[in-house]
Amino acid sequence: MGKEFTIRQATKADFAAIDEINRSSGCWDGELTSHELLEKRHGKIDALDWAQQMTKAVAEHIRKPGVVCFAAEVDGKIAGYAAGEKKKTRQTELGQISYNAVLPEYRGRGIGRELVKHVMRNLSNSGARVLYVVTIDKDQPAAAMYEKLGFEKLTSHRYYTMDSKDIP
Ligand SMILES: CC(C)(COP(=O)(O)OP(=O)(O)OC[C@H]1O[C@@H](n2cnc3c(N)ncnc32)[C@H](O)[C@@H]1OP(=O)(O)O)[C@@H](O)C(=O)NCCC(=O)NCCS
Repeated sequence: MGKEFTIRQATKADFAAIDEINRSSGCWDGELTSHELLEKRHGKIDALDWAQQMTKAVAEHIRKPGVVCFAAEVDGKIAGYAAGEKKKTRQTELGQISYNAVLPEYRGRGIGRELVKHVMRNLSNSGARVLYVVTIDKDQPAAAMYEKLGFEKLTSHRYYTMDSKDIP
């Protein structure tokens, strides 16, 4: 299969399409996030459900100054995005891959990997010496993608929750 997608830096004009990717059914379905696990265990804990919270968080993030965002286009349609940011000060040599997603119908063609690679190169070119990304163990496609890109697992966090009515 030829390379039927192009990657470019996203502009303000693309943000609505990226919001739409995050909002679309199936974007986060089947991918486990800590928000989702929290909601499965404790029920809805916010006016917005976990998928809406993800959509809102990404929408705010990509509009933040200093955040770099790339978009993948297939036949004029935005099929996926990846964002990242160099942490804090100008001296910081740490760059984070923050959010990325590809529409379900465009997955498995190398788009996610190419998008994240663009963010990695951009962060490196702006002075990040160390790159990191956080995902949860159960999110296999994302974990496999990061490992294919050369990331090595540093550690796992344990995320405990309980109902406050059960405080001993
Ligand atoms: C993670 C995601 C962006 C991958 O996008 P994609 O375009 O399908 O990924 P690619 O085709 O570039 O695949 C790159 C590598 O990822 C891994 N991968 C992708 N999909 C996979 C799957 N379903 N199962 C296991 N590994 C998978 C493979 O190692 C693959 O390399 P290979 O094709 O050489 O085997 C996509 O699954 C997605 O949008 N998921 C929902 C959002 C999400 O979880 N984002 C990450 C948040 S941390």
